[in-house]
Amino acid sequence: MTTERQPAPFTGSTLEWANPPASTLPRMKTESPGPRSRDMHARMERHQRGSYTAMVGLHPVAFESGQGVVLRDVDGNEYIDFSSGIVVTNLGHAHPSVAAAVGQAATELDNVHDFAHPRKVEAMEALASITPGDLKLFTFFCAGTEAVEGAMRVARAKTGKHGFVSFFNDYHGRTGGAAGVTAAQASNGLRPSGSFLVPSGHAYRCTMCTGGPCDLRCAGLLEQSIGQNMPGQMAGVVMELITNGNGATVYDERYVPTVAEICQRNGMMFIADEVATGFGRTGAWFASDHYGVVPDVMCIGKGLGNGFPVTAIAVREEHAEALASSFPSTSYGGNPMACAAIIETIRLMKEERLVEHCHDLGEYALGLMRDMQSRHKIVGEVRGKGALLAVELVKDKATREPFPQAGNLVYQTAFRNGVSWATAGHILRITPPIVMSKEIFARGLEIVEDAIYEVEREFGYT
Ligand SMILES: Cc1ncc(COP(=O)(O)O)c(C=O)c1O
Repeated sequence: MTTERQPAPFTGSTLEWANPPASTLPRMKTESPGPRSRDMHARMERHQRGSYTAMVGLHPVAFESGQGVVLRDVDGNEYIDFSSGIVVTNLGHAHPSVAAAVGQAATELDNVHDFAHPRKVEAMEALASITPGDLKLFTFFCAGTEAVEGAMRVARAKTGKHGFVSFFNDYHGRTGGAAGVTAAQASNGLRPSGSFLVPSGHAYRCTMCTGGPCDLRCAGLLEQSIGQNMPGQMAGVVMELITNGNGATVYDERYVPTVAEICQRNGMMFIADEVATGFGRTGAWFASDHYGVVPDVMCIGKGLGNGFPVTAIAVREEHAEALASSFPSTSYGGNPMACAAIIETIRLMKEERLVEHCHDLGEYALGLMRDMQSRHKIVGEVRGKGALLAVELVKDKATREPFPQAGNLVYQTAFRNGVSWATAGHILRITPPIVMSKEIFARGLEIVEDAIYEVEREFGYT
């Protein structure tokens, strides 16, 4: 048995490996979805009837492989990846050194539950080198929703209270507690007692300071709502600092720190759900860094293992006792393969300065998207940070009425023409791997804009 870890074979540049020349993309060989995709989807449907997100039904492609920012379907068509799975594969698909690290771990040790092992210690030390402030205590899980549950348990253990408040349009997962703080369309049914949602400070759709400059009235409403709903019974706030499912809503820079202050004033824990925004996705290691806040608990996932299912909570050192008494143990959390994925992902991101690349990509992308907005009657807002971006489609720029029919058609048209993405309805989510080159991003956006032109023609706007 070997105890020495083998060095990963990949010595090249992730940016070069992930990005073929933009002029070669996309490469469509058949219609999309092609015949093999349709057949594969039909076979899946026999056993998974309808139990997938709407976008799969709208464009039923079956994928075979991926490399970097390119996805290949079972008909041999190659797409520009504008989704990263679902905001997961930050460094691109099938990164050779992440794959090698996970593979090596699988040959050495599968599971020792909560006991220490070298990869777990190394993964925790690597994480501690990038998390803000004193967020230096970790527990690993496998799904984002589990991390949110874990964070909520820490808050309950700390405060001895039960209640949670979250925000309109937030998404935190589909298990009990996490679904309880998730907007209704995704949480399925009655909210568990002890949780409620308040309007968020999304400027484009804010109903409070319409027209005038933002005076953070929405944050005041949060405090009032706590008083009206469950005064003295609240354990915490659960918040997406930049929304994922709702399409890259970035808040006023004062809003998130104000929410954190409200938590402190009311004896509540501030839980930042950074499952989607963490790991460089927004052009900083964490969205907390943009707002200059150190949450009490941070939930991390998705890009953490670059595709390997691993998530975590990061907890402030002052809450160590609460973390311990929340009993966060699971069967698979912190297994050697998961930890190998974390170690290698962080190493690559640091050594190749990939967070900085994502920041630059985001600035460039938003510039292109703003230009695009000015050319179209149905593009109401473009927004985001880094590689968490979105385009909101409206029937009329003055009324801002959402235009989901246009969104679905743009989605299908662009997919047909070689952009693979995960979006549906009036908000087009654009979340490429953070390592995508500017040239390939521009090529993908061009395909999206062509689709918007086509849909505007279809609906009589031109
Ligand atoms: C912000 C946020 N929190 C939590 C989750 C849930 O993660 P998972 O699907 O891994 O359970 C998601 C998933 O999209 C998310 O975007």
